[in-house]
Amino acid sequence: MNHFDLRPGPNGAPELHCEGVPLSAIADAVGTPAYVYSTATLERHWRVYAEAFAAWPHPVLIAYAVKANGNLSVLATLARLGAGADTVSEGEIRRALAAGVPPGRIVFSGVGKTAAELAFALEAGVAEINVESEPELDLLARIADDKDVAATVALRINPDVGAGGHAKITTGQGASKFGVSISETERLYARAAAHRALTPVGLACHIGSQITELGPLEAAFRQMRSLAERLRGQGLQVRRLDLGGGLGVPYFDQPAPPSPRDYADMVLRVMDGLDVELAFEPGRAIAANAGVLLARVIYVHARPEGRRFLVLDAGMNDLIRPAMYDAFHAIAPVRPPPPGAPERLYDVVGPVCETGDTFTRDRRLPELKSGDLVAFLTAGAYGAVMSSTYNARLLVPEVLVKGDRWAVVRPRPTYDNMLAGEPRAPWL
Ligand code: LLP
Repeated sequence: MNHFDLRPGPNGAPELHCEGVPLSAIADAVGTPAYVYSTATLERHWRVYAEAFAAWPHPVLIAYAVKANGNLSVLATLARLGAGADTVSEGEIRRALAAGVPPGRIVFSGVGKTAAELAFALEAGVAEINVESEPELDLLARIADDKDVAATVALRINPDVGAGGHAKITTGQGASKFGVSISETERLYARAAAHRALTPVGLACHIGSQITELGPLEAAFRQMRSLAERLRGQGLQVRRLDLGGGLGVPYFDQPAPPSPRDYADMVLRVMDGLDVELAFEPGRAIAANAGVLLARVIYVHARPEGRRFLVLDAGMNDLIRPAMYDAFHAIAPVRPPPPGAPERLYDVVGPVCETGDTFTRDRRLPELKSGDLVAFLTAGAYGAVMSSTYNARLLVPEVLVKGDRWAVVRPRPTYDNMLAGEPRAPWL
């Protein structure tokens, strides 16, 4: 469900809108490429996710995964609804705090937290540091000891369950770098509990992203439950289970992935009767369908041998998911032609000088011409956050819509900004 629909445009013909705003108006004002986000979709996804856990009789923390879309206005929109934040760097913690997420709702995850980042998180008073290895546990204990504070930690478990839409985003398998093995959990948890500067509050897991079946998640959560019961059996306190993110979204007309409600029903069934707080770290499920990437056709280049390239002004540096994960994004013309208009097979490409800068091949689309606008759908998560300036292209701007209003929430830098950011070495 999202708020990108065809509605009559300024000249009466149907045109893709974000809520009440025609995308062409944004493209004309801001230029392309540009990301456009819908406040109503963000809010709706947040509510659907949060309400799905309303029946759980103990506290539930929903910590939105900032890495999916960390724009300050996106975070502030969610913070106002009561969202927490799952963060993986000092930068993400700073973003969450700046957007108004209280430290008591911030979770700090990640395999490679530096001493400086751990110290920063302790000073900020984040709710939970998800420790992923024994050396991290030792380092955190030393830092907390020096500061004479108690660090609230959860131990991230690697449940050795594979899941996720692509090998590069699977995190829960034994061979992946994330979390401690099950066989080590009891020893490490007990070590943490014995340390005066550490307060272990529970276990965490996150087995992958774009997960479209509940089975692997359920297997991981059953392990979390039995581990929690084992630890409790040894007199250790386990107050919270952080079950991570990972719920997939539909990128095309595939069988619909489980809804947040299906997911929550499964979680509540697995955890039934356990007196424990729950935490979640959804990213994609909240943000993906709340954003599109707007682009304009620069050229239609038809080769005599038959291939027809739709050369856009957006490239792999603006949306890397197709190049990096072979990801599929639906592409919609912003002003679709009337039904029955001719269609063509296009290779949709960007301007970057790599063959990998191909969004898709042989995509059937209505006939398009230079100057036409298209929107990559479901681009609100892992879109702008993964953009770069490769090929000295300016960073793509971001726009947030609310009803009939819209605002540029990350402007496109200027070429002067780009050049001024690099002081010349004094010997040059
Ligand atoms: N928690 C942790 C510890 C994570 O590592 C992640 C995502 C999440 C939560 C949020 O997962 P989600 O609910 O969004 O699936 N760039 C890739 C996705 C990488 C996901 C990394 N970790 C993509 O574009 O598909």
